[in-house]
Amino acid sequence: MINAKTKLCCIIGNPVKHSLSPLMHNAAYRALGLNFVFVAFDVIDVKTAILGLKSLNVAAIVVTVPHKIEVRKYVDQIDKTAEKIGAVNTIINNAGILKATNTDWFGAIKALKEQTQIKGKTVALLGAGGAARALIYGLKKEKVDAINVFNRNFAKAEKLVKEFRLKAAFPLHNLSQIRFCEIIINSTSVGLEPEEDKSPLPANYIKSNQIVFDIVYTPRETPLLKMAKKAGAKVVYGDKMVLYGGIKQFELITGKKAPKEVMEKILQVYSN
Ligand code: ATR
Repeated sequence: MINAKTKLCCIIGNPVKHSLSPLMHNAAYRALGLNFVFVAFDVIDVKTAILGLKSLNVAAIVVTVPHKIEVRKYVDQIDKTAEKIGAVNTIINNAGILKATNTDWFGAIKALKEQTQIKGKTVALLGAGGAARALIYGLKKEKVDAINVFNRNFAKAEKLVKEFRLKAAFPLHNLSQIRFCEIIINSTSVGLEPEEDKSPLPANYIKSNQIVFDIVYTPRETPLLKMAKKAGAKVVYGDKMVLYGGIKQFELITGKKAPKEVMEKILQVYSN
């Protein structure tokens, strides 16, 4: 029951209504009998939102699209990982000090490693935003051989390649190099509402010996993953990234071991 001692956690994003974080975290709090509640806020002005949440003494703030980069300006501390990635997705209120970190890379890499080894592989990374930065950090940590970045805004792809010393940058309409990549990862928002019927690449670019990972998770079977399955490729669902990143967030927020099965069940039921 919510009472005067309930600790408030939230997710801020825009749009945020597709997020399964509130359902997943609340189910986990209930399973462990913790006096926490997790809500979602559609936020346009990040600065006033963070200042307000800080003065309300919230326990934690999860950050999603499009605020992961800008939010860094309004926290008190940023850990080394989030600093390196250049994007924040989790903020913990530690006795009035807002400490920022990033769990996206951890969730993504754990999800990918359930299906494939990463070491020595060549990756095609679609997108060059905050999520792409977290993926690059994680892939490099796992000693990937090469990362090619494909992005609609080519200059952004080039900037990432330079900053992280990656293999090459391509505009999203020049996909010929994809056939040489063993792992294809979509970190763009194509496939997510209002573009839920679109794929970031045409079906004929996917081969049966490739692994295709879509970080979009609502719907679970995105057009890209449907195409990949049809081509006989192995797929990695985006809800696994949310699960493993969410487990890490839960443990940072509560200091308790997360109830994985409870959280996984919520994602299975609600991401379809
Ligand atoms: P996130 O934190 O999820 O990465 P982001 O930083 O806003 O969010 O990045 C969104 C990514 O999706 C970007 O790579 C963006 O491409 P641009 O850099 O060209 O804007 C990509 N994206 C969004 N909508 C897209 C679309 N309709 N077609 C292709 N790429 C798109």
